[in-house]
Amino acid sequence: MPTVKLPSELAATLYQRRHRLADQIKGPVVLWSGQPSARNFPANTYRFRANSHFLYFAGLPLTNAAIRLDGDRLTLFVDDAPLAAALWHGPTPTRTNLAAAMGADAAYPMAELSQFTAGVATVAVQDTTTAAEQLHLRDTIEPGQDKALAEAIIALRLCADGAAITEIQRAAAVSIQAHRAGMAATATATTEAQVRAAMEQVIMAANLPCAYNSIVTVHGEVLHNEQYHHALQPGQLLLADVGAEAASGWASDITRTWPVSGQFSPPQRDIYDVVLAAHDACIAEAAPGIEYRDLHLLACRVLAAGLVDLGILKGQPDDLVAQDAHALFFPHGVGHLLGLDVHDMEDLGDLAGYAPGRQRSHRFGLNFLRLDRPLQPGMVVTIEPGFYQVPGILADPFRRERYADCVDWERLAQFADVPGIRIEDDVLITTTGCDVLTAALPTAAEAIEATMKA
Ligand code: GLY
Ligand code: MN
Ligand code: MN
Repeated sequence: MPTVKLPSELAATLYQRRHRLADQIKGPVVLWSGQPSARNFPANTYRFRANSHFLYFAGLPLTNAAIRLDGDRLTLFVDDAPLAAALWHGPTPTRTNLAAAMGADAAYPMAELSQFTAGVATVAVQDTTTAAEQLHLRDTIEPGQDKALAEAIIALRLCADGAAITEIQRAAAVSIQAHRAGMAATATATTEAQVRAAMEQVIMAANLPCAYNSIVTVHGEVLHNEQYHHALQPGQLLLADVGAEAASGWASDITRTWPVSGQFSPPQRDIYDVVLAAHDACIAEAAPGIEYRDLHLLACRVLAAGLVDLGILKGQPDDLVAQDAHALFFPHGVGHLLGLDVHDMEDLGDLAGYAPGRQRSHRFGLNFLRLDRPLQPGMVVTIEPGFYQVPGILADPFRRERYADCVDWERLAQFADVPGIRIEDDVLITTTGCDVLTAALPTAAEAIEATMKA
């Protein structure tokens, strides 16, 4: 039988995380890892990814398992695979081994979990089979207990510990190589799919999964585009948002935009430099105590000012942002929390992203802001301003009328070869400022052009 053993520092980190949770929450907690979801028939499943809250405290990506935390006592629930299962899946570690690796005080088969769920708090998992079991097993929960648990977990996961930062850096290092490979492959690639393949090849060869579905597209204006069939033509921009996930589950999230021909056209370069100015301004300001919302508004102002300088927007940058005119071209937030999930803890809605008492604005220019908290040392966030020409926004009669005086539409037509640009880096907030974990991948236009030739 194969055996697992966690490095002693990781085991100590996991113990500390559980201990800190026990300090914050009264009463027992059960966290489920979840199960694979079937793709049309049970034996053909989507790639399994253990629930992130489970992973954070358990450290092992177990399938169909649960942990019960009660004070410092850890109980593992997982089944030993029947011997016959090895025919299809190979031999797997035993429950006894997994429990020892995890530092569990006791371990039982999953069927016994129902005897240990009275009054426990939990967090819902995404797969429907486990979610149904969670509901079935929990009939004695007090109202508010799950929310208190979610808030306690958020308090821990909001700031990365040393082990988490190391893992995000590991994932980021592979993502940086993937982006370099994508830039180099563009010279000979004829489709988006070929560039995607060159990028994901690096991630797969490192034996890692992607942290999210890759975006590799000449239609950067489709924000989460997941189509890769378009041919690459000289004169187009290619937007690549591709990030590896470390073996431990920690994510990275990088976007670069480069010219298919290897050289930005003058209009592309003009807009690129405006987006880069917004990106750089946010990173220069990112520090403990700074409101993330203010970074977003800073990006909006720098973008508006740059678009005024280019003659696309008309008016004072502050007035334009107050009217949400920037959102015609930058309709999303400047970024989000990054951790075990690429949009970290978004399974909890806005509970993690928004400080207590705060709610999403209904404003066109603020509605997609995913993070509205003061920055703290240890937070890992993305900074990802962009410029997009989205037909659904720019051709919308209501917006055309609302912003008739703010946009020089004839001037905008001269930037038709700029459908979408985004520049995205992963940023760790430190005690004095910030550290760009993805800084080894260039952002400056000349450096991108040079990397494409490398
Ligand atoms: N990769 C998705 C995002 O940047 O939000
Ligand atoms: Mn992102
Ligand atoms: Mn991204």
